Amino acid sequence: MIRIGRIGHLTLETPDVGRKLDHFTRVVGLSVTDRSGDAVWLACPNGGPALLLRQGAAARPARLSLRLAPSADPADVLRELRGHGLSAERRSDTGPDLPDAVTFSDPNGLEVDLHPEERSPSPRAAGGVVPEKLGHVAFFVPDPQATTRFYCEVLGFRVSDWIGDFFAFLRCNPDHHSLNFFRRPDAELGLHHMAFELRDWNHVKEACDTLGRHRVPLTWGPGRHGAGHNIYTYHDDPDGQSVELFTELDRMSDEASGCFDPRPWHLDNPQRPMVWEPGVDATNSWGIPKPPRPA
Ligand SMILES: [Fe+2]
Repeated sequence: MIRIGRIGHLTLETPDVGRKLDHFTRVVGLSVTDRSGDAVWLACPNGGPALLLRQGAAARPARLSLRLAPSADPADVLRELRGHGLSAERRSDTGPDLPDAVTFSDPNGLEVDLHPEERSPSPRAAGGVVPEKLGHVAFFVPDPQATTRFYCEVLGFRVSDWIGDFFAFLRCNPDHHSLNFFRRPDAELGLHHMAFELRDWNHVKEACDTLGRHRVPLTWGPGRHGAGHNIYTYHDDPDGQSVELFTELDRMSDEASGCFDPRPWHLDNPQRPMVWEPGVDATNSWGIPKPPRPA
């Protein structure tokens, strides 16, 4: 079984790299670590590469990098992927400091790169929110059940929660979720939101002040999700893509226990993976539902 250690970075195409880069450096506080042509690499101090921005006709998620568990051998990974009938290949051109990748397409056509784990420190941005790491990415997909099955059976993800039958939360390490799949039957693959982890509640407050100073309005929050129990805010980047800033995400330190680490705000004790009834208990235990997006 292939084991994924963590989420790596997300490649986003955008019609205006400069505008998006300005947001993610000056406001979100990611640091530029490399440039190649129209592509720019952005990093968080503790998570390494977080985003790769590149020019495209429209704003869309183009590739996803996942970091293999430290013990994984890329040759074995390639063999296993091919054993699942995938046309996977080894590549050496997927990014600076990423000399080895095993790449394939997931069932939704998303290009996925599996990179060996290699942590190198990234510079800390001088201003902006400066998140700790890219925490999770949530995709719109036509069939979250089939997508969840694929990521669990092929890449070893585990299901942490569902909201109804349309929103899946998958973990690959103690973090409650590193990937989400949200059903949007009529749509092609899309980005529901990207989420960056902050240190603590005080960092969330500072982040709200930073967004306010830059006249970037919150679209939801602060609140505390039911599924995952993370404190969150959401805002839109210049392409209208939703950016979550979060802290206090549930963790399952002991996978064998099948329970998330106890937290005072859990209503269930122990808190186990579950299917949440759609509604405000699942999305915001502080009671304010997600506002409708402006037309
Ligand atoms: Fe999220």
